[in-house]
Amino acid sequence: MNILSIETSCDETSVALLTDTALTHLTASQIDVHRITGGIVPEVAAREHVQVITPLVEEVITQSGLTQKDIDRIAVTSGPGLITSLMVGVETARTLGFTWNIPVFPINHIEGHIAANFLENDDIEFPAVALVVSGGHTELLYVPEPGTYELIGATRDDAAGECFDKCARILGLQYPGGPEISREAKAGNAQAYDFPRPMIDSKNYDFSFSGLKTAVLYFHRDNPNAPLVDVCASAEAAIAEVLVFKTKRAVKEYKAKSLLVGGGVAANQLLRTKLAELDASLYIPEPEYCTDNAAMIAAACKFHDEPNAELFDFKADPNWELTPR
Ligand code: KG4
Ligand code: ZN
Repeated sequence: MNILSIETSCDETSVALLTDTALTHLTASQIDVHRITGGIVPEVAAREHVQVITPLVEEVITQSGLTQKDIDRIAVTSGPGLITSLMVGVETARTLGFTWNIPVFPINHIEGHIAANFLENDDIEFPAVALVVSGGHTELLYVPEPGTYELIGATRDDAAGECFDKCARILGLQYPGGPEISREAKAGNAQAYDFPRPMIDSKNYDFSFSGLKTAVLYFHRDNPNAPLVDVCASAEAAIAEVLVFKTKRAVKEYKAKSLLVGGGVAANQLLRTKLAELDASLYIPEPEYCTDNAAMIAAACKFHDEPNAELFDFKADPNWELTPR
């Protein structure tokens, strides 16, 4: 099975070609463009996608050593995400599928982040619990078998990545904030400041990060000369602690054999280290496959092996929930 996949849900234009034996994968990042505005302007992101998507598809096919005739299906992120960004990928995929007369599969972005773990592992044991932590989502899911999901908890306000990004902005660091805070934190003392661990004692699996961001805002306003490295280390520790605490509890309660972690925040080294002490097998993709990428979309497509799939009858859906509450 040779799958061409496209991911344009946010600010990375990514194309991959996954075969049974090889992966060709290219991502054109828009980070430099969005740094100018300190965050993503959706129309700007969509225009950037339009400019690079076709050359990227051609380049991936060339680099794979295959031709268009070898491609069996196309997988594309069709939600959730920014509508204008999603539309570029979806319409490109539908046009290619129509022209090449092959099926096009709409893939949920969150499922893609979970599926990234299957790129390098084919012996994952179930049931599993999945933690998806990105700029737009913070979700805990029960995964009884590949491709089946039950939402057990989610953020009630900001996502963990959003919290990193907003804290970074408050502290005068660049976009995206996660890697910046993490870099500063390496030289800091995580015990220096006692930022809140929101909802850590709540009985459910929900999260809340907006209060933590506000705590960092007020702290910085009142203590502008506090060492940046210590503020970053303390904020990073607070975010990681809540995520790790609730995730470990979910793994235990659901008797999960595996924990599947995904999303941009899963690239965070502290989180990776803290999650390691676990009574289940821990899977976290390489950082390149934690942040948005098309390879994970091809991997998720394998969960949907419907031989008589509709060809291209779907639209971009910015609010597509993997598992409605
Ligand atoms: O999954 P992703 O690439 O895009 C979305 O689906 O949102 O995640 C992007 C998020 C951003 O908020 C970024 O700050 C965060 O992931 N991120 C990190 C790290 N690398 C990326 N957060 C913490 N530590 C990192 N090393
Ligand atoms: Zn993502």
